[in-house]
Amino acid sequence: VPNLLGIKHLVKEDIDLIFETADHFKEVINRPIKKVPSLRDITIANLFFENSTRTKLSFELAEKRLSADVINFSASGSSVKKGETLIDTVNNILSMKVDIVVMRHPDVGAHEFLARHVNTRIINAGDGTHEHPTQALLDSFSIREHLGDVAGKKVVIVGDILHSRVALSNIYALKLQGAEVKVCGPVTLIPKYIESLGVGVETDLRKALEWADVANMLRVQNERMDIKYFPSTREYTQLYGVDKKLLNSLDSEITIMHPGPINRGVEITSDVADSDQAIILNQVENGVAIRMACIYLLASQIKQ
Ligand code: CP
Repeated sequence: VPNLLGIKHLVKEDIDLIFETADHFKEVINRPIKKVPSLRDITIANLFFENSTRTKLSFELAEKRLSADVINFSASGSSVKKGETLIDTVNNILSMKVDIVVMRHPDVGAHEFLARHVNTRIINAGDGTHEHPTQALLDSFSIREHLGDVAGKKVVIVGDILHSRVALSNIYALKLQGAEVKVCGPVTLIPKYIESLGVGVETDLRKALEWADVANMLRVQNERMDIKYFPSTREYTQLYGVDKKLLNSLDSEITIMHPGPINRGVEITSDVADSDQAIILNQVENGVAIRMACIYLLASQIKQ
């Protein structure tokens, strides 16, 4: 695969290879010396046209642990603000002998556009409401680590499915690996095409949680919101918020995930987010190994 634009373009064997490689790097980053010299000859540019904490720092750390040279670019404070185009911006950065571009962009398809117009390797760190492939990979990797396998597991993705690149990439990744997937949320936040992806829809949160082995709780993305009447934040929390009381009333214990950032007290309460049932910080930890694996595998193709 020349780029990592989305999980949609991967096959099961790609995910298996990424996970095997990430297993190795997870072992590496738990050693006293957390670095390997593999990518001393590679330069990577991290281009963030949209805010990020986890993804941005995780990519930078992954690159540094592979010994790559790293440059970081944020649209705010750059010449994008003077009107420079995406293609001009990236071509100028590439002329400084950059080998791989990691990019987050608010527009759906920005990476596919760039892949057609510039000559480099591109990793998608999130494009608008479309895909966030490394998030989905680290999520599945964390399920595999916590529950032994992804195949056969019942995963419900709860919340704002409509605006979520995490949801779409997770659906592709989980289905490829043989998991059963449902989405749960208010009808106004579930896109009509979702069932065509082989995903079940459940609007009753309790029923969804009773069914599931894993619940991946999404943030309501108010910044992308175009809904004026339903749900309000209060309605959302009443109907789709998860607290410890609800989890304790279920027949069996389920695993709680969240991609971050959390709106504490909206989609989950602190007594859930900080409990042993949640693997939220394990997801963040695994993000570094997964991104090391993706970068290493892409860089290996450049070196061939
Ligand atoms: N999960 C995630 O993409 O978080 P950031 O927006 O902080 O990168």
